[in-house]
Amino acid sequence: MKTRRLTEDETKTAAGILRDGGLVAFPTETVYGLGADGLNPEAVMSIFAAKGRPSDNPLILHISDRRMLERIVAEIPPVAEELMQAFWPGPLTLVFRKSEAVPSEVSAGLATVAVRMPDHELALRLIRETGRPIAAPSANRSGRPSPTSADHVLQDLDDRIDAVLLGEPSEVGMESTIVDVSGDKPCLLRPGGLTLEEVRRIAPETTVAGSTGHGEAPRAPGMKYRHYAPDAEVVLLQGDLGQQLAFIDEAHRKGLHREPFALMACQEMIDVWTGKESGLEMTLFSLGSRHQDKTLGKNVYAYLREADQAGIRTVFVESFKEENMGRTIMNRLKKAAHAGKESL
Ligand code: TXA
Ligand code: MG
Repeated sequence: MKTRRLTEDETKTAAGILRDGGLVAFPTETVYGLGADGLNPEAVMSIFAAKGRPSDNPLILHISDRRMLERIVAEIPPVAEELMQAFWPGPLTLVFRKSEAVPSEVSAGLATVAVRMPDHELALRLIRETGRPIAAPSANRSGRPSPTSADHVLQDLDDRIDAVLLGEPSEVGMESTIVDVSGDKPCLLRPGGLTLEEVRRIAPETTVAGSTGHGEAPRAPGMKYRHYAPDAEVVLLQGDLGQQLAFIDEAHRKGLHREPFALMACQEMIDVWTGKESGLEMTLFSLGSRHQDKTLGKNVYAYLREADQAGIRTVFVESFKEENMGRTIMNRLKKAAHAGKESL
């Protein structure tokens, strides 16, 4: 199938394709999504085929208004009201007990459904014009870095989907934060574009899945799959700044990793590397100042894809403190770093 490129003025065409059961990729503030009519089981199934995604991994329903929410959930707990009030539209996905209206293809057989209202003009217009919730995972081939531009979508899915709605690169660059509000206490299932610290300002009792030390199974089923991995090897640097940079020199001298190398780090670390004049040629990917926490994650996925296109074999990445956006970035980079070592 030929993938149509639709401009911002063609959301009505895109909505028509969705209502007819087709697949349309569209921009959101977090990453690009691969959308299908969320109430049409066959359309939803075709998402899994296009992505090569295991169908036991449930999808997020994207909504544009309150009425749509009430249609798809069984109840709205008070803490969900507060979180929605504070953060919707925005990079926060809430997991509710689902209503009968949600096909089991969306929830992968779970009794719950994940819902999000994106903070993106085009996305909201598309949902409104479609008139139903849009089921959408990130619009990448399963296992690849999430797409933050229409070009990334086409790299992975050209000729596999009906259309892509062309928008600007995504502002946040990391997927939404997922909080389960279906239990006694809110529980963070996946850190994302909204920080845990921000969630706890509204819901201080929020727990973190998997942090109880009981070795429980991952609560967001997607957490168990190979994820976010480029072809290049991703190596997370360890130790203080000096040790992290010294390791790169050592890897070069001892041939520990394949070259060419790249370093993805905050601008402060890159400045120190440049100042060292070690003589080792390396591509430098700056994530911006470490003091600009909100935008640190914006280019991570784009750089991983760029590394592949430039033929880089090893991407060294700075280890961030696991707080605020650093928690989200480390969550993704650890998965990218381990991807090659897993059996999947
Ligand atoms: O920012 C985002 O969230 C993007 C944009 C397109 O909205 N979407 C996205 O979707 O990242 P996806 O499919 O790549 O990730 C959805 C995650 C998966 O880890 C899945 O397991 C989890 O949400 N999930 C979906 N429904 C769930 C449920 N009912 N309970 C627990 N986890 C759920
Ligand atoms: Mg994804």
